Amino acid sequence: MSSGLEDVVAAETVLSDVDGAAGRLVIRGHRLEELAGQRTFEQVVHLLLDGFFPELPDPSALAAALGAARVDVFERCAPLLDRLARLDPFDGVRAGVALLPDGDALGDALRLIAAPGVLTAALVRARRAERPLAPDGGLGHAADVLRMLTGVAPGRESAAALDRYLVTVCDHGLNASTFAARVVASTRAGLASSVLAGLSALKGPLHGGAPGPVVAMLDAIAARGDARAWLEGELARGERLMGFGHRVYRVRDPRADALQAGVRRLGDAGAHPAVAARLALAQSVERAALELLREAKPGRSLQTNVEFYTAVLLEAVGFPPEAFTCVFAMSRTAGWIAHAREQRATGRLIRPQSRYVGPRPASAEGAPEALLTAS
Ligand code: ACO
Repeated sequence: MSSGLEDVVAAETVLSDVDGAAGRLVIRGHRLEELAGQRTFEQVVHLLLDGFFPELPDPSALAAALGAARVDVFERCAPLLDRLARLDPFDGVRAGVALLPDGDALGDALRLIAAPGVLTAALVRARRAERPLAPDGGLGHAADVLRMLTGVAPGRESAAALDRYLVTVCDHGLNASTFAARVVASTRAGLASSVLAGLSALKGPLHGGAPGPVVAMLDAIAARGDARAWLEGELARGERLMGFGHRVYRVRDPRADALQAGVRRLGDAGAHPAVAARLALAQSVERAALELLREAKPGRSLQTNVEFYTAVLLEAVGFPPEAFTCVFAMSRTAGWIAHAREQRATGRLIRPQSRYVGPRPASAEGAPEALLTAS
């Protein structure tokens, strides 16, 4: 048995390759550095879906198709937004996604990819007692989601920063949520079922739920003014430092660099004066955390993961911390869908074994066999 399935290979994929020793991520033959900040989210969605949907339009037409899908999702979900807004944003997004058809066609896939952005913006606004805004199908996905969130057309730098984020986290090997999505796909359930499985796995703080707590950590350290003492207190209480450590990476997660560069660009652009100060704080917290983790866990290389600078970037472009995991889902849904299609095309029903360690059934005399053996 391998606890946590560590090092177990459970699928072959053409989608992404995570090299944990070298700190390299390849997505369909492209290094992350060739994609983040270089391609749009729509272009990367095309890259992921290519070959899995015969009706996929060419890359230049996909942005319009995704825009139309945003409009479609909004129209389907608008009557229920008031009720969804009573849930926290992540649960509201998941409930909204559950309202969508569970089909296997490209139209189903694009609706599912569009949905987290449309729902997140509407549900965050509803919590602020602001009216949800309908999508503008003619805009890029990142720009439109920011417009629906804030009510104003975003600056070029903010839209580019969110686009960079969406590209950076779109796929990442057989992580927990992608595995969950593939397990469901292996049963031949529809794409919405796979996406709902992925969403549920993403929610936890050991996977996609970490960046909200990163903001709480930065705020607490900013108020106290002593990063090392605050972090030491957390470790002494047995807490994990959010945004650090990874199952696969033994060196710095390359996505942390891509996102840190995105935050730096935002700060340099000058349109967000608070961003440069927040980045400086984050960098000093990162240094202190890495030093402490080296001392506390000398046998385990614990490095910065994607979630640390995710928090700084998503905060900078205007998302509240309670919506960060929803924004992760905006991107990763594309990866889950590609994996679900790949699983259907190339895989079998995923059905591992468990080793039974519970009590044995009662023997003929009525006493459990385990007890008889023990006595
Ligand atoms: N802070 C403190 N200690 C840590 C941390 C951390 N962030 N991460 C791991 N450790 C410690 C563990 O306590 C454990 O110590 P022990 O051997 O003394 O018990 C040791 O390092 C190994 O930890 P595991 O739990 O075996 O490592 P695993 O591979 O299962 O965990 C994980 C990876 C879940 C990401 C972990 O590093 C963690 O909890 N990090 C914090 C949460 C986080 O940032 N999650 C986002 C991950 S990125 C993503 O999913 C998108």
